[in-house]
Amino acid sequence: MGLHAEIGTFGDVAAEDDDAVLSYFLKTEAVGRVEAGDALIVLGRKGSGKTAIAKYFEEPKGDYLSASLSLRDYPWALHERRRNSGASEIESYVSSWRYLIAVKALSMLLEASKRIITDSQRAANTFLQDNYGGTRPTLPNILRPPRLKLSKASFQPSIMGNALGGVELETEKGDLAHEVDALTDILLDAAFTIGSQIGHSKILIHFDELDQGLSEINETHERMIIGLVLACRSIRRMAGFETKIIPVAYLRTDIWDEFRFSDKNKISQTAAVDLEWDSDSLLALVNERIKAKLGAKFSWKDLDNGDVMRGSQPKWNHIIARTFLRPRDVIQFLNCALAISLDREAEADTFDNDDIQLAREPYSRYLKQELDDELGPHWEKWTDAIRVFSELVTITFPKNDFLEAYEQRRSKKNDYDGEEALEILYRFSVIGYRRGIGKGGSGWVFQYTDPQAGWDNGASRLKVHPGLKEFAKLREERQS
Ligand SMILES: Nc1ncnc2c1ncn2[C@@H]1O[C@H](COP(=O)(O)OP(=O)(O)OP(=O)(O)O)[C@@H](O)[C@H]1O
Ligand SMILES: [Mg+2]
Repeated sequence: MGLHAEIGTFGDVAAEDDDAVLSYFLKTEAVGRVEAGDALIVLGRKGSGKTAIAKYFEEPKGDYLSASLSLRDYPWALHERRRNSGASEIESYVSSWRYLIAVKALSMLLEASKRIITDSQRAANTFLQDNYGGTRPTLPNILRPPRLKLSKASFQPSIMGNALGGVELETEKGDLAHEVDALTDILLDAAFTIGSQIGHSKILIHFDELDQGLSEINETHERMIIGLVLACRSIRRMAGFETKIIPVAYLRTDIWDEFRFSDKNKISQTAAVDLEWDSDSLLALVNERIKAKLGAKFSWKDLDNGDVMRGSQPKWNHIIARTFLRPRDVIQFLNCALAISLDREAEADTFDNDDIQLAREPYSRYLKQELDDELGPHWEKWTDAIRVFSELVTITFPKNDFLEAYEQRRSKKNDYDGEEALEILYRFSVIGYRRGIGKGGSGWVFQYTDPQAGWDNGASRLKVHPGLKEFAKLREERQS
């Protein structure tokens, strides 16, 4: 069997669909920071590896407990009713998330307890049995009970000297009783106690796929997601003496970018991990996969026949230039190339230049679809822009030509005028601009390679990202 047939695939492009992902997981610096408890929030573009990390943390590791929760099928509509109308708008979902995290932490600690012997363990056990019929409530069920049963044998916060027999998650007004906060504090206290009793100093809880169950992010969803981030922060600040509960939210950068609330900047600066890749780290990721499939002594070099592409470009650089420096793009490109090489020769061991050339067409279609998912929710009619690119024919073009053609092509329900369109296209790296003379050398500036640069609305020459060249049927500009 040839090497390519032996590889078969470089893996599924979505971590949640790839059962083998942990067998070739690359532990990057970002992963280390999450593990160390530095991050409140993990931010990354679509396909940058959020779910891969959440999967890595699915199981308890050596000295700490860890669990990952996907919010793909989360009952957002139910959670919407669990708001705290006594809090400010922006904080109205913090109480419900804090309660949810406390219950999850208790449940993980009881799972990790060999026996239920201490008072705190017994109380937690009774509380979970009474309200959820077992010690492992599923995520969608944690906020479901309209009323929580409390008793002497479980937990009983007292308010103004009166012990509560129950707490409502759904009051007659349809919101959350304010006593929930007092209950959560008691649950967290018990969690810290159990943690030190059984010798677990760290409990990581990861919340991934926050955007998956939502077709669009409206204001209420925004508040619920911000509420989770604020709840993560509030719980982390409550560290017990020996035990820390560290909840982490995973979110798409483009969604986070549109949120507005007062502590956002502080959180971005001090408690966010950005998933960023470069050519070398992406090569390391691919080499992990090659090693896992072919054996430890194999690497990308063994799959490349060594011929350089046009402009003496190594194949790897040619591939990378067509991505947004995201793992998903690289894996997709290589899978396309693999299918083509195997079609050419069932016994293929290495890629030739044609394999890479021909992979560009199906890859380009993938990239367009990925952008549909990413850009679509922000700008439904973004494909108007692609039509304009096609009309302009070459991959680079004067800005004014775009503006002119765009006005004619712009469909009725398209909310963006030409300048706005260019700005958002730049934000998602669909286009870049030619840097003006005297501004740090000439060259093409794209958001994903030059995040600090920002959009320059005075730029006069623009370029479509090379990954879209085939989809939009573009040509290189004529060399003068
Ligand atoms: N650290 C890593 N080690 C190995 N593979 C990785 C790593 N990070 C990402 N990948 C791979 O890259 C691809 C994209 O990653 P993933 O599905 O986690 O992206 P995502 O950020 O969750 O995207 P989305 O926003 O669409 O959910 C997957 O095939 C995944 O296995
Ligand atoms: Mg994901």
